[in-house]
Amino acid sequence: MAEFDLVLRDARIGTASDLFRGDIGVRNGRIAALGDGLGKGAEEIDARGRLVLPGGIDAHCHLDQPTGDGSEMADDFASGTLSALCGGTTTVIPFACQVKGRGLREAVEDYHRRADGKAVIDYAFHLIVADPSAGVLGQELPALIADGYTSFKIYMTYDELKLSDRQILDVLALARRERAMTMVHAENADMIGWLTGQLELAGKTAPKFHAVAHARIAEREATHRAISLAELVDVPVLIVHVSGREAVEHIARAQAQGLRVLAETCPQYLFLTADDLDLPGNEGARCVCSPPPRDKANQQAIWTGLANGTFSVFSSDHAPFRMNDPKGKLVCGPAAPFSRIPNGIPGVETRLALLLSEGVLKGRITLHQFVALTATNPARIYGLAGRKGSIAIGADADLVLWSTDRSVRIANARLHHNVDYTPYEGIEVTAWPDTVIAGGEILVQAGEPTGAAVKGRGRFLRCDRPVEGAPA
Ligand code: URP
Ligand code: ZN
Ligand code: ZN
Repeated sequence: MAEFDLVLRDARIGTASDLFRGDIGVRNGRIAALGDGLGKGAEEIDARGRLVLPGGIDAHCHLDQPTGDGSEMADDFASGTLSALCGGTTTVIPFACQVKGRGLREAVEDYHRRADGKAVIDYAFHLIVADPSAGVLGQELPALIADGYTSFKIYMTYDELKLSDRQILDVLALARRERAMTMVHAENADMIGWLTGQLELAGKTAPKFHAVAHARIAEREATHRAISLAELVDVPVLIVHVSGREAVEHIARAQAQGLRVLAETCPQYLFLTADDLDLPGNEGARCVCSPPPRDKANQQAIWTGLANGTFSVFSSDHAPFRMNDPKGKLVCGPAAPFSRIPNGIPGVETRLALLLSEGVLKGRITLHQFVALTATNPARIYGLAGRKGSIAIGADADLVLWSTDRSVRIANARLHHNVDYTPYEGIEVTAWPDTVIAGGEILVQAGEPTGAAVKGRGRFLRCDRPVEGAPA
């Protein structure tokens, strides 16, 4: 009789703090033992000397999120979570988005209907608070936090989502009272609106002007304001998808002063530049996202922030729209101005390989930083610690065996999302997930999904209150 359901033998096991050689014993979907010469498993994987890391947590991705402009996201919970899985991610946290004038609970119920029976991997929800009315602040949000929706995103831009400074203070005060985590999209709406108007008057409406309208100073100013508002309330805040050097500097300065300011960045700010929006015709639409990719010097500032600990989280911000689809990037027509191109790019499957290959294997960050940024910190910050994000006794057996000895050329044809392009086409990486295990089940083998990777197997996760001041 086997002692374990599954044993990974003689792996090189990496966590946010350690790298050691040993066996991993899995029972009932959880890690039951770490050791040398563990007893027999009903199933065994010879991982001799191969790198095994915790499955990734993608703490910022958009799946089947309703939009207001007639566009439709290309990935639902089935294709989006399959794509995440094949990229080595075993937990996703997308967003249940409130519509202004409507309730938050209603948004959560709708989002559950979209996820039910579809997710291949486990998932939790962040909330997007677009309308912090008295009812939302007084009843709905506290009740949702108690129910396991313990983090929410607020916007400083986009007319249909943005909050005033006063509303932001109300939301931050509630986050402090309820010990929830507030994520902020920090861009100055009026600067962007004014620049957009000026560009449109000058006939400058091609996709490349999106990067001009979303100037770095608009990100810098809003980042500083968000930090100041959180400082006033004395509550942690997390600035999402940071793209520019000046925003990084403000965050680092606040951290040096002892403020609990956390920050997230994404692959597009390391591997793309504004030149990727400057393609013939409307092709640049494929890289329109907000904030936009910047330039090489700003990429370097982001790498430095990853290496020196300014950033705690590395997410994809996967926001999938197809190019050849009347409800995709060109929903407002092939000649529509940049201001009417849906914002967001795909990346849920390529996030980990890009950072492991170009970050760790090229010596820019350590393996431990990689694990912390992509799994352990998001688990702590968003209330999944102990269950997700590490290789530890009692944690879910979410594990990735990485192949790091051959070059893989990123090509959309090999990805599993439902988007008709990847912005990272042609980039050569030397890391790719070979075997992915979630809840003790082998869901990816030799880079391809197994028969066990079925939709509906993913469970909804209720999040705890974030670990105070996380990460350590
Ligand atoms: O352009 C982006 N990032 N779209 C997704 C929505 C958001 O603001 O994260
Ligand atoms: Zn955002
Ligand atoms: Zn996003």
